[in-house]
Amino acid sequence: MCSAVVGAARPETGSSRWGRSAVSAVIGELSYWMSPIGLAVIGAGYWGPNLVRAACATPEFRLEWLCDLDLARAQEGLDRYTSVRATASYEQVLADPAVAAVAVATPAATHFDLVRAALEAGKHVLVEKPLTATVAEGEKLAWLARRSGLVLMCDHTYCYTPAVRRIRDLIASGEIGDIQFVDSVRVNLGLVQPDVDVLWDLAPHDLSILDFVLPGHLTPVAVAAHTADPVGAGRACLAYLSVWLSTGVLAHVTVNWLSPTKIRTTVIGGTRRTIVWDDMNPPARLMIHDRGVDMLPAQSLAPDERRETLVSYRTGDISVPALPEREALLSVMAELAGAITEGRPPLTDVGAGLRVLALLDAASRSAEQGGARIPLSMEAGT
Ligand SMILES: NC(=O)c1ccc[n+]([C@@H]2O[C@H](COP(=O)([O-])OP(=O)(O)OC[C@H]3O[C@@H](n4cnc5c(N)ncnc54)[C@H](O)[C@@H]3O)[C@@H](O)[C@H]2O)c1
Repeated sequence: MCSAVVGAARPETGSSRWGRSAVSAVIGELSYWMSPIGLAVIGAGYWGPNLVRAACATPEFRLEWLCDLDLARAQEGLDRYTSVRATASYEQVLADPAVAAVAVATPAATHFDLVRAALEAGKHVLVEKPLTATVAEGEKLAWLARRSGLVLMCDHTYCYTPAVRRIRDLIASGEIGDIQFVDSVRVNLGLVQPDVDVLWDLAPHDLSILDFVLPGHLTPVAVAAHTADPVGAGRACLAYLSVWLSTGVLAHVTVNWLSPTKIRTTVIGGTRRTIVWDDMNPPARLMIHDRGVDMLPAQSLAPDERRETLVSYRTGDISVPALPEREALLSVMAELAGAITEGRPPLTDVGAGLRVLALLDAASRSAEQGGARIPLSMEAGT
């Protein structure tokens, strides 16, 4: 939570009149000071202000700072949140005893140093995807967090959307049956990032979703990726990523910064049902199709019948589950607060961040080798 009192750096006490507005001001001040977890957001670029907004809407947090190397940007990012201070000094944030946690929304290459310093200063951390720029860095942070007993949570935002939560439940309940394939497409006219390619920018979303929804026995065993830079941007702007799972199932992810149309579709085919998630279609983000292909057991058919009847098409109903419209970042903040106050690992803990990193790292190596299949050892994060 934050105070949005115009003209005051922090809530002021001592109202002279006890009218209705004075009472609500006092209640506002009280809840400001009683909000238990002091938070600082680091990075006021594209994403940081979203964390500021979500933190300010979360009663469990008292946002203390927005920090950016560019002080003017931090000041702009605070907009109307007048109880929050802007700074360019991360050291000042970490030295503040009122800060119990930091949320890091800076470029991936900076995550390791910033998160390590926060953990060493005794602060809980929410870090943006990807956890770090390398697996080795991620592992060091995991070790530090374990040793310190502090929460290290990855902002795998999509895992907190009602659609992905429902997909996870549908798979876990057996309603979909055994998973046969996954096909995920995330393309739009995206910002060509200065520090990461499209794999490291967009694929963490799809890979963290896969990590979140797949049942425990279905783990990635190998990865292959093809990438291209047709505009000469100096880094891959589109990528096709194949992930083989332990049961032999193939998952495929397409990411692309160069598409004039925005597509956000994931299809998860199962033996009983197929889930189609279209995030660009709010009235029917999720559709559950009782449609698919069944193979009849060959031995039940006479030899001359086999060719035609082995494949049978199911064309049943399509259902559209009603989903609550809750902003994912509010759930991210609630989960961070819950993990800190209850002393438990968050839903998207450092292990999830490491598993995504292992896939990204293998995908990059595969792309460098022209799409070679790279076997994975998924000890990371397990
Ligand atoms: N969860 C999501 O859906 C989502 C969406 C977009 C971006 N992100 C992630 O958020 C992070 C930031 O992305 P962005 O698009 O906002 O980047 P950005 O370049 O727009 O902003 C980064 C900001 O961090 C500041 N910064 C850099 N180093 C710093 C330091 N040491 N201390 C303080 N400030 C520093 C920069 O000055 C800049 O203002 C990335 O990890 C990105 O992957 C996540």
